[in-house]
Amino acid sequence: MNASKLETVLITGASSGIGLELAKCFAAEGSNLILVARNRAALEQLAGELRRQHQIEVHVLKADLARPESAQEIFAQTGRAGLTVDVLVNNAGFGLHGEFAELPLARQLEIIHVNVTALVALTGLFLPGMVQRRRGGVLNVGSVAGFMPGPRMAIYFASKAFVQSFSEALNEELRGSGVAVSVLCPGPTKTNFSQTARGYRQHEIQSPKMSAVAVALAGLRAFRRRQCVCVPGALNKLLMSAPRLLPRAGVRQLVGKVNRLK
Ligand SMILES: NC(=O)c1ccc[n+]([C@@H]2O[C@H](COP(=O)([O-])OP(=O)(O)OC[C@H]3O[C@@H](n4cnc5c(N)ncnc54)[C@H](OP(=O)(O)O)[C@@H]3O)[C@@H](O)[C@H]2O)c1
Repeated sequence: MNASKLETVLITGASSGIGLELAKCFAAEGSNLILVARNRAALEQLAGELRRQHQIEVHVLKADLARPESAQEIFAQTGRAGLTVDVLVNNAGFGLHGEFAELPLARQLEIIHVNVTALVALTGLFLPGMVQRRRGGVLNVGSVAGFMPGPRMAIYFASKAFVQSFSEALNEELRGSGVAVSVLCPGPTKTNFSQTARGYRQHEIQSPKMSAVAVALAGLRAFRRRQCVCVPGALNKLLMSAPRLLPRAGVRQLVGKVNRLK
């Protein structure tokens, strides 16, 4: 699938990190963009930059995806603006470090709202049009966390397991439909993610991290090739062999130990 000059790509969480780099990658291909996040100033700044550099249309939508009605509002706003969303990139997401019983329940439910509910709702609203047009697709941002249970980050890992399973199932359902579905599963990446996840905690273990631009490029390439699952980076691919080699109990103990250090 090649980018069309008329293609419009909606990207959630485009105000920083991987989403911001995905926006730059799609813009470099000549796609028009709809950028979604809570930080309007960051989105406007990126939009101005991308309009100047690539002569594309860039729309900004401020939305809090933790609000259950946000997906419907985004769908209605794009409709009123006469925009057809050809590609949906569900990238917005966050996690929290800590034990489930100790973290505030409301914040943990927000992880599910942003990482899962909004992703499903946006997909459910925009996908039927893509199927009807027999073109376009959905790129979901999962995580290597989606392949294993994650003690001390239980809800985040579980949310990404949902994204993984949902994306792979959709890819199969849509085989031959003209619509692509891919899931990008990054490992540790240099973004604001750890800062958000650690909250009040100041210390972080120094683990090797990929750049957000390398992750975004790998994701876009996989999506264009209609690859179902993309784990970017050699180290992350190696990491992914652990859940296959170790017994499940060993995997959850190991992940719990690593998450305790974070
Ligand atoms: N960095 C990693 O190590 C890593 C590894 C694996 C997977 N991932 C996944 O990569 C994706 C992007 O994260 P990142 O690493 O780029 O982190 P980031 O720099 O913190 O970016 C997160 C993005 O999500 C948006 N977002 C968060 N809560 C939102 C809400 N309630 N409503 C709307 N937008 C919201 C943020 O925008 P606003 O704050 O402006 O709303 C921001 O644009 C996430 O799904 C994350 O789980 C990251």
